[in-house]
Formats: sequence, structure tokens, C-alpha cells
Amino acid sequence: MKMLKQQLVERRNAADRETVDFFDLVIDELNKPNPIMDESTALDLLFTMLFASHETTSMEEHEKILERRVDPDSDITWEEYKSMKFTSHVIHESLRLANIALVMFRKADQDVHINGHTIPKGSKIMICSLASHLNMKVYEDPSVFNPWRWKDIPEPVGASKDFMAFGGGLRLCAGADFSKMQMAMFLHYLVTNYMWKTVSGWTMVFYPGSQFPDGFHIQLLPKVSNMVLENPIKKLGA
Ligand code: HEM
Repeated sequence: MKMLKQQLVERRNAADRETVDFFDLVIDELNKPNPIMDESTALDLLFTMLFASHETTSMEEHEKILERRVDPDSDITWEEYKSMKFTSHVIHESLRLANIALVMFRKADQDVHINGHTIPKGSKIMICSLASHLNMKVYEDPSVFNPWRWKDIPEPVGASKDFMAFGGGLRLCAGADFSKMQMAMFLHYLVTNYMWKTVSGWTMVFYPGSQFPDGFHIQLLPKVSNMVLENPIKKLGA
């Protein structure tokens, strides 16, 4: 938002500005004697436009589900859930970066030889999944939230040494599939009904586990995608 404001001020004050893009159209409107919006509304609008164009991949998937649905009041079907490929990438990427289970514990019931080391029988072992999830040999730019990376990596079915958000082995989380489905339902209703903007926080740290030390506060707004995409200035003035 700060950057947008800076851009707006710079462009507004530029001596030789021409109207070349949507940003300029908004400035033209603001410069009129009786503009239909003030600067703060204009910034909100520009932010929404940016958001709308950036978040389309995920929205498209969910919009398509709604379009294809015969009964608009029906709940999400299994087929619809299975068609949420990008949403599944988002879920796996979220689980990779942030997990409710910071560590897991195991006990070696026999000597374990691994990579030239021996873990003696009886040792207690603490496993930190984030250490695996941020392994740059496996995940390029590991601290970046990038759901698209899962397009090229098979999504984990159980667990592996590179992805253990739900633990692994005999103690694999019994609620793994249920949780992923719940997250998909939540995301579906979120992106089809709401838009949001960041209010404060959102700086992420990864030690000792992923967290937002200043919180991450968002403002939810009822979804207005048609209003934004059709003719935002006209509709806002209405
Ligand atoms: C995003 C949500 C969840 C995450 C990230 C998660 C993560 C985990 C992890 C890492 C473990 C393994 C602990 C270990 O290996 O020591 C675990 C175990 C377990 N989880 Fe989850 N869990 C989630 C949701 C759920 C839900 C919703 C349920 C129940 C409906 C559930 C039920 C269980 C059970 C019963 C175990 C123990 C399995 C065993 O020891 O045999 N989990 N979970």
C-alpha cells in the first residue's frame, strides 16, 4: 500500500504525465474538479485491482466450480474437491512453511546407522520438520511461499523425508486427509465469498518455528469481483 501511495504521488506530480494505463485513469479522475472518489478510495481500488489480477489462478479454479454447479445451493461434491488442483498446491505449500506440530519425538529401539553416523539404541530423537521443509537442495528459494512449485513435484501422499507436515511412519497423522479437505473447503468459501487486504503484521520468521511475531491482520471484504472488473470507477461513483 505504501508503494502504491508513493507511485500515486509521484505520478500525480509528474510534469509530463500521459494517460497510458489504469493508474493514470484513476489519477485523471482524482484531478477533476469534482472527483467521484478521494485518494484513499483510489488507493483501495488500485490495491484491489492488483489483488484481483494476481490472485486469479486460485479464483479461476473456484469460479469454474461454481459455474459448472447445476444447483447453486448445493454443497461441494467429492468431484469438485478433487478438481481443486491449485488449491491443493496452496495447501501443501502452506503446510510446508507453517505447521502446528513444530517437532516430533522418536526413540531408537536399535542402533541406527545413517550417513556415517550411529544413533545408539535407546536415544531420544527430536525431529524438526521445518529443517526438511526449508532444505534448499529440495525446495528452490525455500522461504518463499510458492504454490506453483508443487506443479513439478509429486504431492506427498503419505510422508517422505522431504515433506513431513503430518509426521511419518507408524505415527502418521490420522487426520491428514481430513485436514487437507477441511482446508480446501475453507479456501473455497473464502475466495468465492470474500476479498481481503493486509492491515498489519505479516513479517514471517522461521525460528524456532514459522510464525508471525507481529501477527497477521487482514480486513475481509465481501467479494466484489464483478464490480471491480467491469467498470470500477463508474460503479464506485454510483
Ligand atoms: C493441519 C492439521 C494437522 C497437522 C499439521 C497435524 C500434524 C500431525 C503430526 C505431525 C502428527 C505426528 C506426530 C508424531 O509423529 O509424533 C500427527 C498425529 C496425529 N494426528 Fe494430526 N495433524 C493435523 C490435524 C489432525 C486432525 C484434524 C486430526 C483428527 C481428526 C488429527 C489426528 C491425529 C492423530 C490421531 C495422530 C496420532 C497418530 C498416531 O500416533 O498413531 N490430526 N498429526
